[in-house]
Amino acid sequence: MIERISNKAELRAAVAAARKEGKRVGFVPTMGALHEGHLSLVRAACARTDLVVASIFVNPTQFSPGEDFEAYPRPIEADLSALSAEGVEVAFTPTPATMYAPDTQVTVDPGPLAARWEGALRAGHFAGVATVVAKLFSIVRPDLAFFGEKDYQQLKIIERLVLDLDLGVGIVACPTVRERDGLALSSRNAYLSAQERQTAIAVPEALEAAARAVAWGELDVPAIEAAMRDAFQVRVAASDVAVSLDYAAVIDPATLEPLERVAGTARAIVAAHVGTTHLIDNCPLAPPAA
Ligand code: PAF
Repeated sequence: MIERISNKAELRAAVAAARKEGKRVGFVPTMGALHEGHLSLVRAACARTDLVVASIFVNPTQFSPGEDFEAYPRPIEADLSALSAEGVEVAFTPTPATMYAPDTQVTVDPGPLAARWEGALRAGHFAGVATVVAKLFSIVRPDLAFFGEKDYQQLKIIERLVLDLDLGVGIVACPTVRERDGLALSSRNAYLSAQERQTAIAVPEALEAAARAVAWGELDVPAIEAAMRDAFQVRVAASDVAVSLDYAAVIDPATLEPLERVAGTARAIVAAHVGTTHLIDNCPLAPPAA
């Protein structure tokens, strides 16, 4: 049976009681509207820790003006049942007023990893993410916290946040969960019309094109990126949906800087607007063994 806690002091007490019994605490931070991707994080947390806390908090500070903060889906009862069915014992569901005092002054600067890609498209987004994750870690004090590789830039920023601020939380990266046709699961997929949903597979198709090119020995990044854009456009050209490709790039998996050549491991990243829905995805790239 899941316990829903909205108050910071109560949450701290519940975690402290578990710790006293020698339990290891796992944490899955979410914004709700849970899907199989979130549940895969929960399953990983249940497998590796003794008490799993999941938070559901649609964090206002990571939405830029004009984004979908108000419209973001909040199916709280369904989310609590899904977490309970997976064996989560505590759901932390604070309100914005619980998380942020009206006179809040200090925020976390996510640094250079936030400069490009989503950081360039969404002003202030990663400062909002880094700040709320630091606050959630400080409230929950987990041993391990679980994040999806789908939000790759977010994952790298959080790993760095933990390192640079000595937060003492182990970050566990979990693989992206996909639909059968390759579309990465995302709460925002719910916004897509049927036609947009069909067109959205342009995003994983661009990644597949990158992986194929590298597997065939293409290591020149401009050529790989051209293959990504071509694959994307082939799918988009077959549809009437308004689509814009925000970026299709091959980057260093640690620094997130653009690469000129794939020498060791690399990451292909794609972001696009399909209709008004912003979709992101990524995959690892490795040159064929010599
Ligand atoms: O990935 C998300 O759902 C959010 O960015 C997170 C990590 C829960 C912070 O609000």
